[in-house]
Amino acid sequence: MRDVTQPDLALLAFAREAKPNAYAPYSDFRVGAAVYASSGDIFQGVNVENAAYGSSLCAERGALMAAVAAGCTDIDAVALAGDSETPTVPCGACRQALAEFNPQMRVIMGGRTDEVLVTTLDSLLPDAFVRGYLDQDEGAGAAE
Ligand code: THU
Repeated sequence: MRDVTQPDLALLAFAREAKPNAYAPYSDFRVGAAVYASSGDIFQGVNVENAAYGSSLCAERGALMAAVAAGCTDIDAVALAGDSETPTVPCGACRQALAEFNPQMRVIMGGRTDEVLVTTLDSLLPDAFVRGYLDQDEGAGAAE
């Protein structure tokens, strides 16, 4: 874990600000997220559940999709704030989705209390499958 900085807390505040907008009628577990792009732009997201449960989306991926839609693919940090007592950690699918854009990004985690944890994505998802592996496929894109 890393020391918690003022910028970490500022980004977490954006995640906490978004959390009340979470749409979580099935789990009743609200999550807010905020992504910090290298441009300085901040994008918020919330978990959005669905009656077809598998169509639900986590807060972090919502924030990430908003960043990418705005043309920001250089991501420095992500913060999330969930309803758990201990800081909420990003799920595996979100770790993978975030790793596409920066496996070294800072991850700031909060829950219902003042406890805050900070780490990096590569600590949470070591040896992530990233696009470099696809480039190792000699036949990729070649006509057979
Ligand atoms: N959830 C997130 O939004 N982010 C995570 O990383 C963990 C889980 C949401 C998904 C679902 O809507 C609810 O929390 C309960 O799993």
